[in-house]
Amino acid sequence: MRKVVPRVTIAIDGPAGSGKSTVARCVAEKLGLLYLDSGAMYRAVTLLAIENSVEENISELIELVKQCNIEFTENGKRIFLDSVDVSEEIRTPDVNKLVADIAKTPEIRHEIVKHQQRIGAEGNIIAEGRDLTTIVFPNADYKFYLDASIQERAKRRFADLQEQNVKTTIEIVESEINARDEKDTSREHSPLQVAKDAIRVDTTGKTVEDVIDIIVTHIKEK
Ligand code: DC
Repeated sequence: MRKVVPRVTIAIDGPAGSGKSTVARCVAEKLGLLYLDSGAMYRAVTLLAIENSVEENISELIELVKQCNIEFTENGKRIFLDSVDVSEEIRTPDVNKLVADIAKTPEIRHEIVKHQQRIGAEGNIIAEGRDLTTIVFPNADYKFYLDASIQERAKRRFADLQEQNVKTTIEIVESEINARDEKDTSREHSPLQVAKDAIRVDTTGKTVEDVIDIIVTHIKEK
């Protein structure tokens, strides 16, 4: 008889700087899974809004989103918007500032969630974001909620921005993260929340390897 290999879906949610992207990327590599960075898709849509000057014109933006094509290559490392590599542009301060406002629009979320569910339909995926455990993959085999203190999250984001040569201060980064957290957790549609069946992991003071170990151990135990 042919052996049936189970196809696994792992969903991770958490606030900005909780370490979920780095950890999910490494777990994907370790376990041979597809990696889905859902935040990158909302960032690409935000870039689409900026490029077409429709930040304030949500109905026009919704039409553009329905027609646009968002694709990943190199297992989620690079993202293409209408065949243009926008992996760097989606991380600029302009996008950082606007993305939470764009991501709160239900019609935009509806389009993006459909796309994410198509990508994940085959399973063998690890996907991270704000509503992966609750809305996108509510039946995921494994659910995690990663968190860390605001100081540590700001420190991590500040280090990322320094690598990109973005001039800022840790205080500015902390207040931007606070503002984004506030918007992501208080919005009406699909707010960031801890799913009832998610395992909570506080990554404060932990290395990436520590967190990967915690996640992989849970997966192997189950
Ligand atoms: O993970 P990130 O910082 O790249 O996410 C960017 C923004 O996108 C964040 O402010 C919230 C939004 N987002 C969302 O609303 N739902 C997701 N599943 C992922 C991100």
